[in-house]
Amino acid sequence: MKKIITVLSIFLLLTGVEAFAQKQNILTNNQLVIIANHTGPVISKDIYGHFSEHLGACIYGGIWVGEDSKIPNTDGIRNDVINALRDIKIPNLRWPGGCFADTYHWKDGIGPKEKRASIVNTNWGGVTEDNSFGTHEFMKLTELIGCEAYINGNVGTGTPREMAEWIEYLTSDAESPMTILRKQNGRKDPWKVKYFAIGNENWGCGGNMTAEFYANVMKQYSTYLGNYSGNQLYKVACGPYGADVKWTETLMKEGWTRGMFQGMSIHYYTWVDGWSYRGSATKFNEREWFETFRLNLEIGNIIKGHKAIMDRYDPDKTKGLVVDEWGNWYNVEPGTNENFLYQQNSLRDAITAAIHLNIFNLNADRVKVANLAQMVNVLQSVILTNGDKMILTPTYHVFRMFKVHQEAQLLNIDIKCEDYAFSDKKIPAISASASIDKEGKIHISLANLNPKKDITITCPVVGDNYSKVTGEVLTASEMNAFNSFENPEAVKPVSFNGCKLNGGILTINMPSKSVVVLELTK
Ligand code: AHR
Repeated sequence: MKKIITVLSIFLLLTGVEAFAQKQNILTNNQLVIIANHTGPVISKDIYGHFSEHLGACIYGGIWVGEDSKIPNTDGIRNDVINALRDIKIPNLRWPGGCFADTYHWKDGIGPKEKRASIVNTNWGGVTEDNSFGTHEFMKLTELIGCEAYINGNVGTGTPREMAEWIEYLTSDAESPMTILRKQNGRKDPWKVKYFAIGNENWGCGGNMTAEFYANVMKQYSTYLGNYSGNQLYKVACGPYGADVKWTETLMKEGWTRGMFQGMSIHYYTWVDGWSYRGSATKFNEREWFETFRLNLEIGNIIKGHKAIMDRYDPDKTKGLVVDEWGNWYNVEPGTNENFLYQQNSLRDAITAAIHLNIFNLNADRVKVANLAQMVNVLQSVILTNGDKMILTPTYHVFRMFKVHQEAQLLNIDIKCEDYAFSDKKIPAISASASIDKEGKIHISLANLNPKKDITITCPVVGDNYSKVTGEVLTASEMNAFNSFENPEAVKPVSFNGCKLNGGILTINMPSKSVVVLELTK
């Protein structure tokens, strides 16, 4: 074996990139080839973004507790949550929805709190929304976390004027009714807003529009979204759900020439047994484990389909694909409000995160932003709270392990691995991606989807000499291991000693059901 690998690495070294495309034929099973000097596009840090909607206990309780709370806070925002989010280097945060965004009128959420309008959150349980968390509080949150703001505007029940004024209120330095209002509300300087979405799911909760109708409306709204005082908006047009490439075609055709948007969103959730019965987050069998990953992997095909259309209209790749809602969606935890979408998070979700993030990395040429749904207490969260307690989920740990890829250059790896089969279906057992950072460190992120089998991967690293490898592994003895308030550290990463690097050949013993991130240095 060693001989074959040595021959392979010499061959790759000598022939370089030309051999890259043909090497599958000479690879044996469970091999990953990394050519250190064969780089791809920069991995946008914004692929590691998050999403916070006015839904259940995401904002209220999960993030916002108010200035008078006994829970330690900064201007009403929980300190424990801020610190945890800083640790995973959240690059951008999307707010206020989701479906809520297309019923949200931003002026309800500014000014003295006692004067703010109380409204009914019609999308999520008909609960009272007192608007105590609004524009100023969200922008404060982004400052405290140190991330970019991604604001989702209201097309469904809003007006072009309302949306245009929001941007002016947020970003303009000029003298105008909106900036005077902002100053009266205590904020002298404008903020910077990087991302702004023109509606959410406008084919559904955002107005049930056709693609043609939405494309026209989007252009109307977009026309009035100004770039004030040096702020440069990256406007995100609402794209389709999943693989609906016809919507993408319509939008690309309509929005291209006049530069009406810089990114197009897509949403994709995994519902194990379909929408009507989505299964439990923690009580599941191997069939559900397998199906989750089979469906997760579909995001790769979905991206491929949209990329093909986008490449036709935009061969220079000036427009980004924005996967601004993704993740596993289960039945809610027993005894909790069905409309609050509160679910636990297990090792299965950690592997789901690894699969998605690897796929986003591999598509870094087109995927520029992605946002996990959602950040705290809703769907596949990175954080769960209960009163003054907070726990970090297995998904959180994957985001922390993968942050090394942010703004690094993708490495064009190639992998040949065994299948993980269940019943009459099979999927690749290993998910992987790699990048090289500004200091020349290589990071390889891998997941073994097979819950019953350790897999040894041999990995020639050619094109440069690396001599040291370190890493972390996230795994557990049970597929459904999760962190609870009673046992908050049941699933957490530990240092990985299952790999060695000798003579340019990396050997990785991937434990069954695990996520591993490795760092290679010279
Ligand atoms: O994330 C929950 C909901 O899922 C969002 O509000 C909506 O955009 C999507 O359908």
